[in-house]
Amino acid sequence: MIVKNIKLKNFRNFKELDVKLDDVLNIFIGDNGQGKTNLLESIYLCSIGKTFRINSENDLIKFNEKNLEVEILLEKSNLSITKRINFSYTRNQKKIIKVNGVKLEKNSELIGILNNVIFTPDDLKIIKGSPNERRKFVNIDISQIKPKYKYLLKNYNKVIIQRNRILKSGNKVDNNILSIWNDYMVEMGTEIIIYRREYIKNLKVYASNIYGNISERKENLDLLYKCDIGSVKDLNKKEIKSKFREKLEKISENEKIRKITLCGPQKDDIMFKINNKDFKYFGSQGQQRSAILALKLAEIEIIKNEIGEYPVLLLDDVLSELDNKRKNYLIRYIKNIQTFITSTDDNDLKRIIKNNKKKIFNINEGIIGNIIN
Ligand SMILES: Nc1ncnc2c1ncn2[C@@H]1O[C@H](COP(=O)(O)OP(=O)(O)OP(=O)(O)O)[C@@H](O)[C@H]1O
Ligand SMILES: [Mg+2]
Repeated sequence: MIVKNIKLKNFRNFKELDVKLDDVLNIFIGDNGQGKTNLLESIYLCSIGKTFRINSENDLIKFNEKNLEVEILLEKSNLSITKRINFSYTRNQKKIIKVNGVKLEKNSELIGILNNVIFTPDDLKIIKGSPNERRKFVNIDISQIKPKYKYLLKNYNKVIIQRNRILKSGNKVDNNILSIWNDYMVEMGTEIIIYRREYIKNLKVYASNIYGNISERKENLDLLYKCDIGSVKDLNKKEIKSKFREKLEKISENEKIRKITLCGPQKDDIMFKINNKDFKYFGSQGQQRSAILALKLAEIEIIKNEIGEYPVLLLDDVLSELDNKRKNYLIRYIKNIQTFITSTDDNDLKRIIKNNKKKIFNINEGIIGNIIN
């Protein structure tokens, strides 16, 4: 899919913008605080319906203004269909999302129209951060291609909240009631585990191959699903369920003492390994960045397999740490993937893409200046 055009009105530091994009490579260059990330955010907004930053919707409206508008013209490459996505928001009111002029009943209906894969400096948390960051990463990824997973996760979390409420009564816990919640937990938890196992298995195949290429086969990236109930590698659904039940039984007394749920996929993790060692401790900055890049490119391939076309790729300020060989590899890789790159300035990158078809935009205080083709 290709974003052909972006129009902004009172979005962040953009008063008014109407910009035509390149089908493959778009580079936004500017000093700090000029609006590069804001521009990527507007694409993300029309993809997911909310920002990737922590701000509230009111923060998206230009200071001292009341209402923002974002319009994206999208071309679906496989069917030659054009979609117009309009996102508008008035201070303290509900956001309005329209696709081809028709207002969406639920914002979740937007998912799947403009698929994106985004890589920001914050994503380094996937390797460096807590297990929660890695679960968030797989949850968002799987939800983009399997809507059922998102629904399942929401309900599973409700079950855990209920279960914790029951466990709060400690030794006075009604075992009959607890056992009903255990049934729900095992049923839904097993489904979640299977989705994750399959996704990580797939991700691993692509990501380790891509990482091998990025590092010219000198380094090896491995991914390991660390399922909290124990290894589920070769187990079928029935076997996973009984393993889950056994684990619940084993920790049942402890749960009553601690008054909280102590096992299940809400405690899963993924381990990244470089040349068989934990990436968290043995990966350099550039290697960690390359590993996340490999994950993101792998995610792109998985989405392509699932929906039949490439999503758009948003790279926010993440190339500066990569050496020129790695930058070169990336540019070759994305020849069929519409990509948006932001950078303060990167002469090496400019040299690498000298002969590529592209658009380079200079951004200064929310205004796009000269465009280099
Ligand atoms: N609601 C808003 N109204 C007006 N300006 C805003 C609003 N929200 C953020 N800004 C401004 O936008 C600018 C930040 O833009 P952005 O994050 O896109 O910068 P950037 O070009 O990506 O910079 P960097 O290179 O530092 O990442 C800041 O100057 C900030 O004050
Ligand atoms: Mg930025």
